[in-house]
Amino acid sequence: IIANLHPSRTRYVEAMEKINAFMEYRGLPPGVQHRIREYHGYRWEKRLGFDESAIVDALPPSLHAEVSLFLKKDVIEKVPLFKGAGADLIRDIALAMRPLVYLPGDFIFRAGDQGKEMFFIGRGTVEVLGRDETSVQATLGDGDFFGEVALVKGQPRNATVRAVGYCDLYALHKDTFDQIIAHHPGFKEHIDRMVKERFTGS
Ligand code: CMP
Repeated sequence: IIANLHPSRTRYVEAMEKINAFMEYRGLPPGVQHRIREYHGYRWEKRLGFDESAIVDALPPSLHAEVSLFLKKDVIEKVPLFKGAGADLIRDIALAMRPLVYLPGDFIFRAGDQGKEMFFIGRGTVEVLGRDETSVQATLGDGDFFGEVALVKGQPRNATVRAVGYCDLYALHKDTFDQIIAHHPGFKEHIDRMVKERFTGS
């Protein structure tokens, strides 16, 4: 009866049993096993195990944009970069942003990596670390973005970025970023201005 009342909980428990069995079978180190369990536990808590991207991607085009916008409304409202942006631009970005979860201490990327995506913080805190990976150059939170320099300049990451606590991020891939900039040139100017303010504080 309980299983029927909570079918998604049952699916989650079954999926975890499979994952646990696989991790044991393949002898994954206990620390890694723990992080994998933490990741699935967090996803379950936040999204009840639903794969949001898969559900949205399966919708017909007419509903796809509307539902994407609805689900990403909160993050879009939090990001100052999107303030005053036209409905077309917001729709293009909402359709392209991919939700990702990072665990406390996870590296999102490291200085020197090739950059293929920029990120928006829906909820959580990240630290921008210098090349020594200890000095904290900046702390970014809800509504901030990072990883744009590599996309704009076509150069490797100029810093390492690490999640402080659990982080809900949205990634925007370089190809989509380039398309969006081509259609909305004002967006790139806006990013350039915000980056300048970030580095000069003016
Ligand atoms: P990118 O070079 O792609 O990857 C590292 C990112 O860290 C960089 O883009 C910026 O988004 C961000 N970043 C680097 N230095 C700072 C800083 N001093 N303040 C805030 N963000 C930074």
